[in-house]
Amino acid sequence: MPGLSVRIYQFDPSPCNFPPAKVPVLPRFSLHSLSFGWGDSKPSVFAQEEVQHFVRGRYALLEAFRSAGIGPGGALLAPAYHCRTMIDPAFRLGATVHLYSLTPDLRPNLDSIHDLVLRFKSPAPRALLVPHYFGFAQFLSELVAFCAEHQLLLIEDCSHSYFGQTDLGLVGSVGDYSVASPYKFFPCIEGGVLRSKNASQACTFSGKRRQAKAEASLLLQCLQDVRSPRSVPQLANENVAALDSELKRILLAGAKQPLDGLISQAAISPHYQISDEARQSAQLSRWIVRHTNISELIELRRRNFLRWLDVLRGLPNCKPLFSELPEDVVPYMFPCYIENPQEHFVLLKRLGFPLWRWDEMMLSDCQVAGTYRTHLIHLPCHQALEPAQIEWMISAFTMVMRQS
Ligand SMILES: Cc1ncc(COP(=O)(O)O)c(C=O)c1O
Repeated sequence: MPGLSVRIYQFDPSPCNFPPAKVPVLPRFSLHSLSFGWGDSKPSVFAQEEVQHFVRGRYALLEAFRSAGIGPGGALLAPAYHCRTMIDPAFRLGATVHLYSLTPDLRPNLDSIHDLVLRFKSPAPRALLVPHYFGFAQFLSELVAFCAEHQLLLIEDCSHSYFGQTDLGLVGSVGDYSVASPYKFFPCIEGGVLRSKNASQACTFSGKRRQAKAEASLLLQCLQDVRSPRSVPQLANENVAALDSELKRILLAGAKQPLDGLISQAAISPHYQISDEARQSAQLSRWIVRHTNISELIELRRRNFLRWLDVLRGLPNCKPLFSELPEDVVPYMFPCYIENPQEHFVLLKRLGFPLWRWDEMMLSDCQVAGTYRTHLIHLPCHQALEPAQIEWMISAFTMVMRQS
């Protein structure tokens, strides 16, 4: 919505000149990742025929919000711990976003949601957005009952959980609308999926098909990954032995600190492209999703997650957000709480360590979101990590966490 601005934390790393990440945060394409065997087995509701395809999950959220009546006449209840692209679509529709609090294990705080429903009557909240963070499904029974009582639609944000099981059924099968981000799980470069629970409330999105030029450019990108999987980012000259001297050099050189603070900013972030709203994802991306070796994807993600859990055991200055990996969880990334982000986040980034963090977030009174904004880092655990990359990450992480 032009002119609308919100109070938001802005993190600016530019004074630090961080190098690019040396290991891909998301899976890259390789021929090895393909399988032609999973045909009929559909372990995810997002693999079903009736879903709608977008370039990214954020544009699928736009259609879900629109169908739920989010806009000048209807507010959105969203979690205080969020990335900008979860709320961009609501602002695009001219809506108000009210943030509810979360518990330390990122469960929605029902008292906080109730409080918002009582406080804000006009425009009244129309929908509750609930993410299954990092692949860990939420308990939905109470939330479903609450939504029914207060005439709210439930939107399941499955961007981190293409697979999985809630207390009421498969992830994505419970909400009135569910949205997923295939490119976070599959080496398919792009993709967003929307599922509507009831045909009567289904969105009527009829996006433009990708042009042949765009399909060809994605194909080229895949072929480049096949030809030189490590070309960008590089791990070529890096090995574990060199890390020690690299870290010493970085510590000796000292560093400028990133800029971080609250600002009033246009509500829609630069990550949201209006020109992408009406586009369908490429056929090639969908083909890759259909032909990925799912059992291997699940097994390797779980194995890498468990490896991180093992590494963190006994390591100072950090702890896992989830200390166990239940059987039906297919993790997206490994969320890790670090005690001293000013020192350790910066060191990791200066080493070219691959990690993400949601440091750009709307101001809220949720203490958990306020703390996790800088203390919770997201480490890669995807299926395409090579053994050398894993060993390098583990050594780098261990060395940094042992500093002071
Ligand atoms: C929880 C969550 N929901 C929604 C989105 C938006 O998904 P996409 O990147 O597919 O637009 C993201 C993006 O990272 C996310 O982390």
